[in-house]
Amino acid sequence: MKILVVTEKPFAAEAVRKIKQVIDNAGFEFLLLEKYAGKPQLLDAVKEVNAIIIRSDIIDADVLDAAKNLKIVVRAGAGYDNVDLEAATARKVAVMNTPGQNANAVAELALAMMVYAARNFFDGSSGSELMGKKLGVHAYGNVGRNVARIAKGFGMEICAYDAFYPAGDIEKDGVKALTSAEELYKTCQYVSLHIPATAETKNSVNCALLGKMPENAVLINTARREVIDEAGLVKIMEERPDFKYLTDIMPTNDAELKEKFPKRYFSTPKKMGAQTSEANNNAGIAAANQIVDFFKTGNTKFQVNG
Ligand code: 3PG
Repeated sequence: MKILVVTEKPFAAEAVRKIKQVIDNAGFEFLLLEKYAGKPQLLDAVKEVNAIIIRSDIIDADVLDAAKNLKIVVRAGAGYDNVDLEAATARKVAVMNTPGQNANAVAELALAMMVYAARNFFDGSSGSELMGKKLGVHAYGNVGRNVARIAKGFGMEICAYDAFYPAGDIEKDGVKALTSAEELYKTCQYVSLHIPATAETKNSVNCALLGKMPENAVLINTARREVIDEAGLVKIMEERPDFKYLTDIMPTNDAELKEKFPKRYFSTPKKMGAQTSEANNNAGIAAANQIVDFFKTGNTKFQVNG
């Protein structure tokens, strides 16, 4: 079996060594392609392989067609919107993710961004504190739950809205479960986004929703670029000089936002929420184990297609 780790944004070296160890121990062949130049190099690399481990790398029908022997793709991470699930299912390729493995890393970054916003981007002026402020966790999955856990330590008052997660379970964590996104945005000065990018959520964080946020609103996005209505965000930031937006996924209109709102807008240059050695180890090793299990025992526990 040929197992390829193909990551445009590489894992920490330690994680790569540990992934290789899992693959070697299983008696499989380990292959590695990092920082590839573009799609042609990706298409070439997948030709002979039976399994691939990816991060946010795009796996579309072209890649799947080039990988004639491919049986499984594991996205070492949570969101799998970068994989064409229909195309994979049609070609009998299993797709899995590794839920929860990088959640703490992303949550820590979300809190760091909240502090950065509260302290006016560390510009030396008098800022504010997180203690006592209302935080709205938009979607209470693995990352959302970690954000709530850490925010408690800051003394924030935490609310959450999740269309699927039971309200009773949210409340068990000492978090107030709200019944709609509108209510969450209306209630909370800070909102941290943790919704996946799906047909339903794309552009769903729009002008109408953002306009409901209280004074000195701070929107934190460590989820996906696509969930934001970018034109609506510009409109709100133009209308509301108290509104801040910090994101780990560079918007398509980054230059415009930077120019118009230099003191209220921040984006990381490259998505780095899950870019810690711990998260790389967790997600990478889980991905390798899932592949070994899939081939040796037929385990499909984390499959997200088919
Ligand atoms: C995820 O969905 O797990 C995160 O967005 C991490 O993405 P990355 O592996 O590209 O850093």
